[in-house]
Amino acid sequence: MIGDKKILYSGMQATGTLTLGNYLGALKNWVSLSGDEEECERFYGIMDLHSLTLRQNPSEFRKNARSLYALYVAAGLDPEKNCIYYQSHVSAHTELCWILDCFTYMGELNRMTQFKDKSAKHADNINAGLYTYPVLMAADILLYQTDLVPVGEDQKQHVEICRDIAVRFNNIYGDVFTIPEPYIRKEGARIMSLQEPDRKMSKSDENPNAAVMLLDDTDTIIRKFKRAVTDSGSEVRYDPAEKAGVSNLMDIYGAVCKKTRDEVEKEFDGKGYKDFKFAVGEAVANELAPLRQRYAELLADKSYLDLRIKENAEKARYFANKTLRKVQKKIGLTIL
Ligand code: TYM
Repeated sequence: MIGDKKILYSGMQATGTLTLGNYLGALKNWVSLSGDEEECERFYGIMDLHSLTLRQNPSEFRKNARSLYALYVAAGLDPEKNCIYYQSHVSAHTELCWILDCFTYMGELNRMTQFKDKSAKHADNINAGLYTYPVLMAADILLYQTDLVPVGEDQKQHVEICRDIAVRFNNIYGDVFTIPEPYIRKEGARIMSLQEPDRKMSKSDENPNAAVMLLDDTDTIIRKFKRAVTDSGSEVRYDPAEKAGVSNLMDIYGAVCKKTRDEVEKEFDGKGYKDFKFAVGEAVANELAPLRQRYAELLADKSYLDLRIKENAEKARYFANKTLRKVQKKIGLTIL
C-alpha cells in the first residue's frame, strides 16, 4: 500500500514483440484493472534487465524495449496514470536483488520450473542470471509495496517465491514488505500454441504458425487460426484433455469477447470447426487492429514517449528508493 492506495505491479521481458498469450494473460487484464484511479497506484515495468539472461543484439534490444513501451500504451494503459518505466532506469532493483539473494536458498531456486525449462532450451548459456531471475523479480515487486501482481499462470511460482522471501525477511526485521498476491484471471491465464496445443504459446516458438503476434496483420491472424490444430471431431466443446486445440480456441474467444466457456459452447452449437476458427480469427483481428494503429502513431511521436519514459522513471525511483532505504537501515547498512 502507498497511503490508503492499493498497489498493482507487473511487467514483461523486452524481447521481440508480444504474443496473444502475453496480451490475454497479462496486458489486457492490466488495462481492465485501470478503472479505479483513486484507489490504486499502478507500476508496469519494461523488464530489460531480465531480458539479459539471453544474449541480446544491442540495437535490436533498444528497439524492442521501446516497442514494448509503445505496445503497453497502445493497448490502453495511459502512461500519465500508470507508471510505465524501464527496470534498468531504477538502480534500486539490482541493489535490493543482491540483498534478497542473501535471503533466498538454492534449494528454492532449484525448484523453479521456468529455470529448468529455460536451461533445457538454452543448454549452452545456463548463466547465473537465469538462476537468480526470480530474486530480481521479487525485488521488482517488493520495492513498490505491491498488493496485487496481475500475471499469467506461468508466473505463479515466481510470485510464490517472492512471497516466501518477503515473509522470511519480515519475520526477522518486522513489517518491511507488503506480502503480494498473484492476480490470475481464469480466462486467458494460459494460452496454448496453435500448432501444439499441449504447449504454451511462446514468442520463441520456431513454427511461425504457433503464435499470434500482436503486430500481425488481419490476414495473417485469420490464416493462423485457419491452420490451428484441432481434432478429428466437429463439436465445439470444452475438454482440454480430449480436445486441447478446440478448448484453447474457446479460451481465446472467451477472453477476447468476455464470454464464459458455456456461452461460447452455446454460440457454436451445431456449427463446425471451420466456422468456429474463422470467428475466433476475426474476433482477435478486430481486437488487435486499433492497437496496431495506435502503436504506429506512438512510435512516430518520439517526444511524447521520451517525456513519459523520463517522468515515470523519476516517479518509480522515488517509491523504490523509499523501500530500499528502509531495508538498508533494517539490516544495518550504514546510510550516508
Ligand atoms: P514474460 O515476459 O515471460 O511474460 C509476460 C506476461 O505474459 C504472460 N504470458 C502468458 N499468459 C498466458 N498465456 C501465455 N501463453 C503466456 N505467455 C506469457 C506471463 O504470465 C506474464 O504475466 N518474469 C516475467 C516478467 C517480470 C515480472 C516482474 C512480472 C519481471 N519482473 C515482476 C511481474 C512482476 C516474465 O518473464 O514475463
